[in-house]
Order: sequence, then structure tokens, then C-alpha cells
Amino acid sequence: MTTVCYNMTGTELDREAIAYAAQVIRSGGLVAIPTETVYGLGANGLDPDAVKRIYEAKGRPSDNPLILHVPTAAWLERYCRSIPESAYRLAKEFWPGPLTMILPRKELVPDQTTGGLDTVGIRCPNHPVTLALIEAADLPIAAPSANTSGRPSCTAAEHVLEDMNGKIECILDGGPCTVGVESTIVDLTCEPPRLLRPGGLPLEELERVLGTVEVDAVVTRQMGEGEKPRAPGMKYRHYAPHAPVTVVTGTPAASAQYLLEHIEDGDGVICYDEFAPLFPCAEVQRIGSLQNKGEQARRVFDALRSFDHTQVRRILAQCPDSAGLGLAIGNRLKKAAGFHVVDVTGADRSTESFRVIGLTGGSGTGKTTALQVLGAMGIAVIDCDQVYHELLVSTPELRQELMAAFGDVFDGVHLKRKTLGAVVYHNAEQRERLNQITHRYVVAEVKTQIEDAKRAGMRGVAVDAILLLESGLGELCDVTVGITAPREERIRRLMERDQITRTYACSRIDAQQPERYYRENCTFLLENASSREAFAEQSETLFQKIMEVNEHE
Ligand code: TXA
Ligand code: MG
Repeated sequence: MTTVCYNMTGTELDREAIAYAAQVIRSGGLVAIPTETVYGLGANGLDPDAVKRIYEAKGRPSDNPLILHVPTAAWLERYCRSIPESAYRLAKEFWPGPLTMILPRKELVPDQTTGGLDTVGIRCPNHPVTLALIEAADLPIAAPSANTSGRPSCTAAEHVLEDMNGKIECILDGGPCTVGVESTIVDLTCEPPRLLRPGGLPLEELERVLGTVEVDAVVTRQMGEGEKPRAPGMKYRHYAPHAPVTVVTGTPAASAQYLLEHIEDGDGVICYDEFAPLFPCAEVQRIGSLQNKGEQARRVFDALRSFDHTQVRRILAQCPDSAGLGLAIGNRLKKAAGFHVVDVTGADRSTESFRVIGLTGGSGTGKTTALQVLGAMGIAVIDCDQVYHELLVSTPELRQELMAAFGDVFDGVHLKRKTLGAVVYHNAEQRERLNQITHRYVVAEVKTQIEDAKRAGMRGVAVDAILLLESGLGELCDVTVGITAPREERIRRLMERDQITRTYACSRIDAQQPERYYRENCTFLLENASSREAFAEQSETLFQKIMEVNEHE
């Protein structure tokens, strides 16, 4: 049985939990420990048998050495020899913190801990619970990341429980990790010092203190067959969810466009917050906003891990540039992808300026075909009907206004569509009232989504709404396109698509705007009078023209 100890109450440490965990460590047991980077799987680093159990619990190859965790730089001399002056400088600047130093080891550190190497990785983690635990046990704690070997690292106690339940004695729950990617590893046994793994401490920071730092090749590429990396762990496939991952590098706009153009049904997406609305049909994991690499680092493992609870067939991921924490985030994503990377640098269409195309038309006119054409052109589509339904769930103010106007029309968070429909369907005044409330919220949300897409450097967006002009959404658009089709065609399509009678199809069409309305009010009219293929071609020609006009402005 694995005990989970909730040992933080506010800022106060739970001394009892720490004393218990220290006892487990002293008697050769395994304790999952919180650190600022990721959770570790800890044991007495001086006890070969205890360390052996770590490898068993993780299913980790035993030639892959562990990091020794110490509570202060004063412990360096206990386990390391020939310590260069630079080690003290680094410790002074960055410990406790996300930095591991590789130094020559002393004899008392067993082979099991160092994987047989004559060096040892040592670090002082920045987490009060683990620091207190090491002090209480009065032993250095050897700890790899607490995930099952090959899986994404654990950034919350729940992840550890998922992987380690029943295999270890205790998990100390210190809350979610504040850094989210593992420590930066620097080898100080060579000159110049060498970066073996990018991590929570940016390379730029290391360089500030050390001057030149050589970056090991494994940081950016896959190890070749038979190659022997300096950090043995870097040769293994890592962090991988079950579904294969493709990482897309390049500017955020270019990678988002690549994703839009290549995504298929059943795919999962890892993207910046700003781009999430572009993939309404995919399983999306946001990793934080474009500018916020700290957030991206905290989210990346959780994002990768969460796909294992879904049925996605492939995962496509946007990847940050390598400045600051980006080097570590990109490295984890690329390793999860087995270095399957597509680079779209240079694919930007930066000569164009951003364009918002409004799209509207009655049921059965073929709007879906036009939307697919736009998607294939790399223009994101905002489905306003979907925006409305998401707002109903996410926005309490909207729900309150609707209840004040129409009474009890919610079942929990869900709208009772039939109940509301019964009120507004035959009553124009009530319908107007409903629209006044909902349009205000939808317009505000669509406006935000357009701005997000623009800021993210998208080529353009299409706003798809049946009441595009009536709702005020048209005013957010540079051009509006109305789609019409012959009445007989629409009836036939509706009957076939929605399995309804001719009479019902006619009544639906008659409740909507006549063709004349679109002719008079939209910038462009698309008439869908022939085959689907011909209509797709006709739509593409118009949309290209709209985008081109834009280029010459
Ligand atoms: O942030 C971290 O470093 C986390 C937390 C728990 O402290 N730990 C962690 O450990 O990421 P692990 O075992 O998952 O990764 C340690 C890496 C491996 O790639 C290993 O090969 C390398 O450090 N390493 C350890 N000792 C080494 C040594 N003496 N020489 C070269 N590489 C070493
Ligand atoms: Mg690991």
C-alpha cells in the first residue's frame, strides 16, 4: 500500500508526515518527494539495496545514474571530490534550485547510485518539504523523476499515484510543481563545462556565471545507434504518451497553420492558449500563452500525460523557440516525439495583413463546404453557434440573465433547449429579447477570439454565423459573404441530411431570410447552384481574391 501524506497546511510543514517519511527512507524504503521541478522517487542514496528498489519500481535500466539530493551546498564535500571553484559559485547563485552538477564522486557513493560512473549528479532542490525530509533523515536522497520509465514526468502527486501506487511506501504531496521541467544538468568535470540536459534553469543563466558552456549534441538531436551520451538517461525514449507525437517548430503562426492544414479526425493537439479556438473538433491541450514560457514549462508534462486518458491516434504539438525555458520545453516535446520534428520556419505569409471574413446563409445552402475550403487555406473558423453553447456553460452572468428573462431554463449548467424553444419559437418579441442577451455575449467573445488569432499571427479568420448581420457580428468583419442555393436544392439537402419531411424542411427555410436579403446586405454572394466540387472551387476562387485584395492594400 502506498500512503499519500498531505503534509502542507498553508505554509506550515506537517512534521509528523516528514518524520514518518524520514523513517521510511532510513529503513531502506521508497518515498516520492515533491521538488520545484518534478516529483522524485527517493531512497537512501548511500544504500545499494534501497537504490535497487528505485530501478525496479520505475522499470528503469540500471546503467542510468540517479541524482543525489542534498539540503545545502555544505554537503558537496561529503560526496564529491576535486570540486572546482565554479561549483561553489553556481551553488551560491542557484541553490536551492533547478540545477544539477556532475562532479567526481567519493567512494562512499555506491555504484548503484551512479550507474557505475565515477562521477555523481548532485542537486539541492527548492522545496521546503523535501529539504526538511533530507535533514530529518540525515541522508542524501537519490531520486530520479517519479514516473514509470518512459512516461512523462510527474508534476503533481496524482501523477505519481497513477504510476507508483502499490510499488512504493509513501508519497509526500507538496502540491503542483512550480517549475514543471526537470533540473538543468551541467557537467563540471570537463572544460568548458557542458550542458547535458536543458532544464528549469535557463542556459543563459549558466553562461552568465560560467562564461562559455558547451551544449551537448543530445540536447537537440536523437542519439545515433551505438552512440554513448554523457548523461546515460538521454539515450532513452522519454516522456512519451501512447500516441505518436509530431513536433512543429517555426513561428507560432506558421506552426498553427501547419497544424490546421494537417490535422485529421481523432488527432490531439498541444498548442498555445491563443490558438486553442482554432481546433474545436480536436482533443486540445493548451500549454499556456505564447509569451509565458514559465506556464508552458509547468504544463508540458501534464499535457503529454493527459492524452493517455483519451483515444487520440496522433498528437501534433506547437513548439516554443529555444530562448530561456524554451530550450527545455522544446527538448521534452522533441524527446516525446522521438525527435519527429517538422520545421516550418520561413513558411510565414508575412506580406499579408490579417483579414476577417464573415460567412452566413440559410440551412442547406452549403456553408459547410465553404468552411472546409477556408480551413484548407489555413484560415481559422469561429463557429458562433458553438461559441454560444460554450458561453452558456462557462459564463454564469449569461445564465443569470437568461434565467431572469425566461425563468428556469437550465438543467444544472445545461440549457433546456426545448423549454426555451417553446417560449421563443412563436413569439417574435421574446425571440428578440433572447437575441439581445445572447448576441451581446457572443459578439464580445468572438471579438476576443479574433484578436487572439491576430496577435498570434494567423492569416485570417472566418466568422460563421447564421445571424451574422442581425447580431452585430458583421461589424467585426472586413467582408461578409452570403451563401445562397436554389430553394429546391435546399429542401432536398435538408430532407436528406436531417432526415425530415418536405413540409418541415420548407417551414425551416421559410423561417429564415430570403435570398434577396443576402444579395442586398453582404459584400459578396456565393451561389451554390451546381455540384459540391464546383461550389468548392468557386468558393476558393472568391476567398483567394479576398485574401489577395488584402495583400495590395
Ligand atoms: O529535476 C530533476 O533533476 C529531477 C528531480 C526529481 O530532482 N530528477 C530527475 O532525475 O530528473 P532523472 O533520473 O529522471 O534524470 C537524471 C538524469 C539522467 O538523464 C541521468 O542519466 C543523468 O541525469 N545523470 C545522473 N547522474 C549522472 C552522471 N554522474 N553523469 C551524467 N549524467 C548523469
Ligand atoms: Mg526522468
